[in-house]
Amino acid sequence: MARIIGGLTTSHIPSIGNAIARKQFQDPYWKPFFDGFPPIRAWLDQHKPDVAVVIYNDHGLNFFLDKMPTFAIGAAPEYSHEDEGWGIPTLAPFKGDPALSWHIINSMVAEEFDICSCQEMTVDHGFTVPMELFWGDSGTPPVRTVPISINTVQHPIPTPARCYKFGLALGRAIASYPSDAKVVVLGTGGLSHQLDGKRAGFINKPFDLMCMEKIVSAPEELARISTHDLVLQAGAQGAEFILWLAMRGALQGHVRALHQNYHAPVSNTAGACMLLENAA
Ligand code: DHB
Ligand code: FE
Repeated sequence: MARIIGGLTTSHIPSIGNAIARKQFQDPYWKPFFDGFPPIRAWLDQHKPDVAVVIYNDHGLNFFLDKMPTFAIGAAPEYSHEDEGWGIPTLAPFKGDPALSWHIINSMVAEEFDICSCQEMTVDHGFTVPMELFWGDSGTPPVRTVPISINTVQHPIPTPARCYKFGLALGRAIASYPSDAKVVVLGTGGLSHQLDGKRAGFINKPFDLMCMEKIVSAPEELARISTHDLVLQAGAQGAEFILWLAMRGALQGHVRALHQNYHAPVSNTAGACMLLENAA
């Protein structure tokens, strides 16, 4: 059966994509953020997962406000990255894994999660920036991908509890896939940030650090936060933390943080990454 060997998290803002394109890895402004990634890349290089299941949110490239699925799963042979208007260079298409995608979609629907299945799907910075951060910016990453977009853009967004349970079901789906594939699950976005309104630029470091600790030790506690309180504590766009919770739900082995980094602000967000090992 397929095996989830770890979980990866990172912030995904478009300005990171631009800094990667400009190779600003040593730039004093960006270095404290980019320095979080070499240990994670080394771990990926050592363990060589076959598949990345990427939990992110689409920001208007593939879905817009007129049609907004709560949970959408890609089931395409490949996923293209198109111009989102942020000035990020578009990347080569990412490889899909339609057989695994359909297995996950069937399992999730059987577990009463109603899924929008997408046989064509474009992916935005919420997907592409993490892929570059984890696998480098030179060429196609050496993994097949299953994109999972969860609505964090237009209310009502799914609650932290719902997303954690989504992750639990996702973990069972992957663990019942007849294959010896090694899988990593990504949760992207966050941490605290707010792009507009009176609180534009809002960052809440104590809340972020609490989330980074409890995502390892007490995810059920984080899953009890209401959507309202999450937006209050993390900012309107910091609600993307539900994507981390969905990732964490899928890890039900012996979970420990092998590496983490937090640096704020990065552009107008709290920039963070984590590598969670999921041992048998
Ligand atoms: C920004 C942050 C996001 O999370 C996002 O998805 C898009 C833009 C920003 O900081 O500009
Ligand atoms: Fe975002």
